Amino acid sequence: MALLPILRFPDPRLKKIAAPVTNIDDSVRRLIADMAETMYEAPGIGLAATQVDVHKQIVVIDVSEDRNDLLALINPRLEGLTGQQEGEEGCLSVPGIFEKVERAERVTVHYLDPEGQPQTLVAEGLLAVCIQHELDHLNGTVFVDHLSQLKQTRIRNKLAKQARVTA
Ligand code: NI
Repeated sequence: MALLPILRFPDPRLKKIAAPVTNIDDSVRRLIADMAETMYEAPGIGLAATQVDVHKQIVVIDVSEDRNDLLALINPRLEGLTGQQEGEEGCLSVPGIFEKVERAERVTVHYLDPEGQPQTLVAEGLLAVCIQHELDHLNGTVFVDHLSQLKQTRIRNKLAKQARVTA
């Protein structure tokens, strides 16, 4: 396994649209293992392939407290978004920034697991937020894109300042 470099907002590659996975083979399973290791190491509760510059419809998620309940979604499709919740979100591609985003309270997601089997998951609360956040990445959307222009400008300035300090 290997740690993968994570793209930082506003890297334009975060805007790429991910393509469906057509063949679930060992290279896909290796990518999932590497993404999981990268997510746990960061540490984060979700990571989309887009964030490691692989533009395929793959996300890994683990919202469990013990960090032992890995969920890998291939070609995920959302349906049945119901209710509303607003929680503070962060993103491994937007380090140090946490903002409130409005999301559906409950979602149903259809996907393929790493063995290529079709699965359906009904999620609510934090898991539902995480699924919506990660699936956004596959469509080239970062949580910052859901915020007001004013907040987006502030975040860009803050990140540019951080980049200068660490450069
Ligand atoms: Ni993210």
